[in-house]
Amino acid sequence: MEIIITDTPDEVARVAADIIAGVVRSRPDAVLGVATGSSPGATYQRLAKLSAPSALGRVDFSAVTVFALDEYVGLPAGHPESYAAVVSREIVRPLGIDPANAHVPDGSAADADAAAAAYDAAIAGAGGIDLQLLGIGRNGHVGFNEPSSSLSSRTRVKTLAPQTRADNARFFDSPDQVPVHCITQGLGTIGDARRLLLVAQGAEKADAIAHAVEGPLSSRWPASILQLHRHATVVVDDAAASGLALADYYRSVQEFKPRVA
Ligand code: GLP
Repeated sequence: MEIIITDTPDEVARVAADIIAGVVRSRPDAVLGVATGSSPGATYQRLAKLSAPSALGRVDFSAVTVFALDEYVGLPAGHPESYAAVVSREIVRPLGIDPANAHVPDGSAADADAAAAAYDAAIAGAGGIDLQLLGIGRNGHVGFNEPSSSLSSRTRVKTLAPQTRADNARFFDSPDQVPVHCITQGLGTIGDARRLLLVAQGAEKADAIAHAVEGPLSSRWPASILQLHRHATVVVDDAAASGLALADYYRSVQEFKPRVA
């Protein structure tokens, strides 16, 4: 695992956006897995700037396909906090992605289990995910894989943890409007991506980052699956890195990283 610790939250976004831009430059029809929530917001804003027609060394997202990590179950169609709406508003439109190439689990399907299975099949049909961008919940969840999620799980219906519902209440008018269920890519689905990139900022993520990066591999802290992956990068600011016992080592690895000419 590569751990990049930055001085500021802005730097987290710059590093993450550069990694994603590099993937799209080398493969213009890349398949990206995208996360919602606050953590990747500034990364998308930087990517939007890089995709502007006037941008120097412009990155063209018009042939890119995106798959969202998750979706709430039971929100009315078009709800502004549905992840379908968030992905459209914060990613698809600003980056110039073709809406036909944007996929979000169908949280209003009559048969949610079938919708979840169809989602995994759609990812496989697109050739798999080249890079999956992840945030992390305070309880260590990735996507909506709450503690106790099977480490080999596939896309499926899950029940949100009370802490997650409370954390996400800020997006809704009242806490009881936060759905109880969701469809989320599974930990096994996420692990199938060819590259994982997790971003986190702020001291409230420090405990989860410490468990994910340095704790035992455990469904108690679902993000610890990154330890199993061959190409996982964690980009955190100083505050989110504050629980890492080996932070100085990770900083020195970056300082002495061999540069490819
Ligand atoms: C959300 C999402 C996750 C996200 C996490 C952290 O509920 N389902 O994909 O990474 O919780 O959210 P935030 O970045 O807003 O802290």
